[in-house]
Amino acid sequence: MTTVLRPATLPVRNAAPVISFDRARELAAEFGTPTLAVSRSKLQSVYREMKSSLPDVDLFYAAKANSDVSILRTLFLEGSFVDVCSYREMQSALLAGFSPEQMIHTHPCKTADNTKSCYQEGLRWFTFDCEAEIDKIRRNAPDTKALLRLRADSQSSLINLSAKFGCAVSEAPALARAAIRRGLDVRALSFHVGSQCTNPEDFRSMLIRTREVWDECVAAGCQLEMLDVGGGFPAPYRTSVLPLGDYCRHLARALDATFGDLDIRIIAEPGRGLCAESVTLVTRVLGKSVRNGLPWYFIDDGVYGSFSGKLFDHADFGIVAEAADMRPRSACVLAGPTCDSHDVVAVDQELPDLEIGELLLVPTMGAYSSASASGFNGLDIARLVEVD
Ligand SMILES: Cc1ncc(COP(=O)(O)O)c(C=O)c1O
Repeated sequence: MTTVLRPATLPVRNAAPVISFDRARELAAEFGTPTLAVSRSKLQSVYREMKSSLPDVDLFYAAKANSDVSILRTLFLEGSFVDVCSYREMQSALLAGFSPEQMIHTHPCKTADNTKSCYQEGLRWFTFDCEAEIDKIRRNAPDTKALLRLRADSQSSLINLSAKFGCAVSEAPALARAAIRRGLDVRALSFHVGSQCTNPEDFRSMLIRTREVWDECVAAGCQLEMLDVGGGFPAPYRTSVLPLGDYCRHLARALDATFGDLDIRIIAEPGRGLCAESVTLVTRVLGKSVRNGLPWYFIDDGVYGSFSGKLFDHADFGIVAEAADMRPRSACVLAGPTCDSHDVVAVDQELPDLEIGELLLVPTMGAYSSASASGFNGLDIARLVEVD
């Protein structure tokens, strides 16, 4: 039975901006809006806390969450490794200082070109989860080590990444045998419990199942040397989450109970859990109106920009207005700057009567926000600015 860890009875981790409104005004004056303020010190402290509560796990930052070179560079300097899914992500990681030996490629279904380019650049770990991928890796990335990705069913994750990827646990030993027969050197098992996994018990359930598969794969002839527990570490949005240290220590105990007897390398691929909190959006109110009796505020970033995470990532971003506690607040609609009526970023948050020109802050904007922004309507994407 799954134990539910209830944030209400435990300390929690809440979303908070990395800058004050005074600093936001300085940034807006210098760089304009929308601007994404990146706090290196926040990123460093999150990395250090995750690493110190998972001391035996090598952290491979999932560059897909945010492949901005300054973020990658900060994590590189902290001693992180990196997980890439494409040649372009690999190039950003190289630019930030990572060497190919510090990278794994985690895309289970990639193009031949993607595979070949990363291989030629020196990457040597590739992921597969089905028969078709075996020959692709063999042809385009010979003499490499392979991670076999398993499907994970998680109860508490906001985004189920196993709907699309991962071999069924029951089919994994047969797939491993087929891979070995066809010359693929299967050296690791991996899984992803799903993104924004709020209950670390989901890791424990998956680890128990993975250990069974591990033993079967070893019996089938795989020389397994590495376990990759993927990402899923949550970040606080409008809903708080467990404190990072508590969450990671829970995982560390589960790892110890399930794989503690083996002398293997254990790695994780956190994306959001590392970078989300270190970025705060500074956006400006550019217009206002009343529709059907409800105030509408139009801001200069929206779902085609940094709020793309609202659509693709189901993120529920909290909007922070200055001195909001001292001003009467009411229900309102906050809309983005494009002509699309779909471009609405909040309908259920109470805000003060906002002035045109007023700045708003949006915390937890570091992951899957600028990464999936587009320049629709010819509007600029928010620029990232390091603030400390
Ligand atoms: C293969 C893989 N690894 C790691 C991640 C990062 O996940 P998260 O940001 O939830 O930690 C993802 C997210 O899509 C992924 O697909």
